[in-house]
Amino acid sequence: MSKGPLAEKTDFLVIGSGIAGLYFALKAAETGTVAIITKKEEAESNTNYAQGGIASVMSADDSFDSHIADTLNAGAGLCHRDAVEAIVREGPERIGELLALGVEFTMKNNRLDLGREGGHSKHRIVHVADLTGREVERALLSRINEHPNIQVFENHAAIDLITEHHLVNTGKAEQDQNTHCWGAYVLDVKSNTVKIFLSSVTMLATGGAGQVYLHTTNPLIATGDGVAMAYRAGARIGNMEFIQFHPTTLFNSGSPSFLISEAVRGFGGILRTRSGEDFMKRYDSRGSLAPRDIVARAIDSELKRSGDECVFLDVTQLQASEVKSHFPNIYHRCLDFNIDITTTWIPVVPAAHYSCGGVVTDLFGSTSIIGLFACGEVSMTGVHGANRLASNSLLEALVFSTRAAEHIKKRKNFSVVPEIQEWDESGTMNADEWVLIAHDRKEIQQIMWDYVGIVRSNHRLERANRRIQLILEEVSDFYKRTVVTEGLIELRNLARTAELIIRSALQRKESRGLHFTTDYPQRNDIEWSKDTIINSL
Ligand code: FAD
Ligand code: SIN
Repeated sequence: MSKGPLAEKTDFLVIGSGIAGLYFALKAAETGTVAIITKKEEAESNTNYAQGGIASVMSADDSFDSHIADTLNAGAGLCHRDAVEAIVREGPERIGELLALGVEFTMKNNRLDLGREGGHSKHRIVHVADLTGREVERALLSRINEHPNIQVFENHAAIDLITEHHLVNTGKAEQDQNTHCWGAYVLDVKSNTVKIFLSSVTMLATGGAGQVYLHTTNPLIATGDGVAMAYRAGARIGNMEFIQFHPTTLFNSGSPSFLISEAVRGFGGILRTRSGEDFMKRYDSRGSLAPRDIVARAIDSELKRSGDECVFLDVTQLQASEVKSHFPNIYHRCLDFNIDITTTWIPVVPAAHYSCGGVVTDLFGSTSIIGLFACGEVSMTGVHGANRLASNSLLEALVFSTRAAEHIKKRKNFSVVPEIQEWDESGTMNADEWVLIAHDRKEIQQIMWDYVGIVRSNHRLERANRRIQLILEEVSDFYKRTVVTEGLIELRNLARTAELIIRSALQRKESRGLHFTTDYPQRNDIEWSKDTIINSL
């Protein structure tokens, strides 16, 4: 029955240990116990690989109005202004907190060194050389690990959220019509057991979904688990068609693709064709520093026109010592591929990078399910609209995790956690499982890359949809018959996330921001200045 030896009870359940989950946990732990579950080692997350930094207004020659205007401009008419104002205005305080927590940001003349990236009209990116995320994770985890109210469960993968469907039937009538979340079923990967984590507050902080695509900057953990779990539980999902492709990843660097930070272009790097042309000037007056959607589409179009496999990022005209000291990680990683970036152009191609859509929240991280909150890349707060401005993601995670924690603290009444059904362990181990999982995962990634990429069309989207529907059916059938494993959890979530991206892309009959379709090449403000919302129930 419920709450047996495999049940953990906590005041706050946090799913995910990137910046969003860790920051929320630190704040929530001021008032209660926190369990953080994370599917690999505690530092493994998109956050850990963040390079450029965190955008925030930190200098006298910058202003909130300017950061707000740049964010709205990149978002192509779909940003929610109140959410944008929140991240911009609350940003400096959050950066101050990170400094107090011991994050060692790069300094210049005793001040924060401020970088610049595409779409920003000012230098406003605080950073730690080109390894910002790693340092932020380190600092947060060191506080988390010494906190008496917080316990981290590594190698614990959430399978599904616990809602009304999972209640033990007590014969009592339901108390109200709204869906509640009371925690999650979680696979302890090392012991191969399914545990029940019970809580009246569940924070979904599972990050992005880059692994849906064949080429991505995202590590293997980014499989869209949070969006898929929330969708199955009945939460509102929004704007999934807006997948950001980062214009510059190192060509042929394997999987995940190695990112060449946009800060390199902010520092003076120039994109060139093989023949040396500064081609971005033909596409946008901001040249190589135009927002990402424009640069990625321009590269895609140049490659299709020339038949080349990559374009090039040129930093050879910059001071070699400066390049090495600003971008030590990029410099050394490229050297591993026999490219000395101070003397040789860097071959680059776009790759899937960031999911602008996700689980719809209000300004305090609440989702449409009572007791379920979301923050970080898994959420759709309204900040990014149709295209995220560079380095606004870490900022959004800091601001919204804080807002959610403060909002929850003010709440007086927490719902009582009811009796929950035990996990159904029936099912067989299937010897074919690994080959099926590996094959389906690859197939999803290939379909999404070929048909749901930077440039789309109805024909391609429909073709992708037919194939993904078939995979969804197969995976669902397999899931019912087989004992759950981490690979199967991820495959089921990848298939669902791919389907949500395609479904949203098919709904939007215009081109805007990151969604470009040859069937509707123009932006249509009269009919489509609205979010794409999907409800599962
Ligand atoms: P993540 O950091 O991805 O953390 C998600 C966590 O959830 C992980 O711990 C994961 O293991 C866990 N998880 C997932 N599913 C489950 C499950 N089923 N059960 C249990 N745990 C689960 N943004 C910027 O603003 N500035 C930058 O400079 C920048 N650079 C980037 C560079 C790279 C290479 C990449 C990939 C992204 C970059 N981004 C940057 C984007 C930014 O890093 C991410 O959007 C942000 O870190 C997301 O934080 P998060 O906490 O929401 O998710
Ligand atoms: C980068 O360093 O280019 C990534 C920044 C981001 O994704 O915001």
